[in-house]
Amino acid sequence: MTAAGHSPLLVERAGDRVVATLNRPDKRNAIDQATVDALHELCAELEKDPRTLILTGAAGVFAAGADIAELRERRAVDALRGINAHAFVRVAELPLPVIAAIDGYALGGGAELAYAADIRIGTPSLAIGNPETGLGILAAAGASWRLKEIVGDARAIELLLTGRTVKADEALRIGLISSVHETGDLLTAAHAIVDRIARNDRAATIATKRVFRAPRDRHPSVDLEAQSELFESPEKFRRMTEFLERKDRQHTGGRA
Ligand code: COA
Repeated sequence: MTAAGHSPLLVERAGDRVVATLNRPDKRNAIDQATVDALHELCAELEKDPRTLILTGAAGVFAAGADIAELRERRAVDALRGINAHAFVRVAELPLPVIAAIDGYALGGGAELAYAADIRIGTPSLAIGNPETGLGILAAAGASWRLKEIVGDARAIELLLTGRTVKADEALRIGLISSVHETGDLLTAAHAIVDRIARNDRAATIATKRVFRAPRDRHPSVDLEAQSELFESPEKFRRMTEFLERKDRQHTGGRA
């Protein structure tokens, strides 16, 4: 694995995947403008040369939110720029899957970055939530639309209005994360998910993510257009022929 790391986001590239580690441990990986800039830079790279992304945090924390020191100084015009919101949309729209591997706190903007991932896994010390209203703002970088897509309207609004933190067992129960692993096993588990995805057809994976994220009123035409392309792909014929020939051999073997 080659490391081309630069603070505050360490980026490790390894063939079909990239591991990006939020890396401001002294600030609990709070997401500041430099982190946002680094996320944009990474997205530009992955838009041009798609690879699966594992997002994680250094030193037992995912991210304790947007950087409150910067947030306090931001004004109306900054809010309208959607500094974090646009970066997280770009992460969410990366062609290949994004996996958030969450150890410890994922609060505020940290939680919203995790919501932008396709798959979230955590550790027993996970603490995820949106305390924004307690700071006099709303969670405007994705929580108000993505959280309800993940856990449903009733749970999402309860979490956003109370600002309470969800621990690992509840997060697993409500589908906010899909599995829990000891801290030392978290990245191994994330890589195992990437390995599993990598066995599937890349074009089909890209199409599945894109179609899944398409607005409701674009279905089913968006599904059918994507499928029509895949139905013509040599890889579809190769994979299906391989299956049928394997079954044929099994039947022939069975008779012999
Ligand atoms: N923005 C900026 N700085 C942050 C931060 C954030 N979101 N979260 C933590 N930090 C900084 C602290 O100010 C402190 O800096 P200092 O050492 O220069 O004083 C450092 O990170 C360590 O934080 P501390 O609170 O001492 O760590 P802890 O382990 O006791 O507590 C948290 C961790 C996450 C519970 C606590 O830091 C916290 O509540 N952070 C804010 C969470 C939040 O409201 N996020 C939503 C933002 S929209």
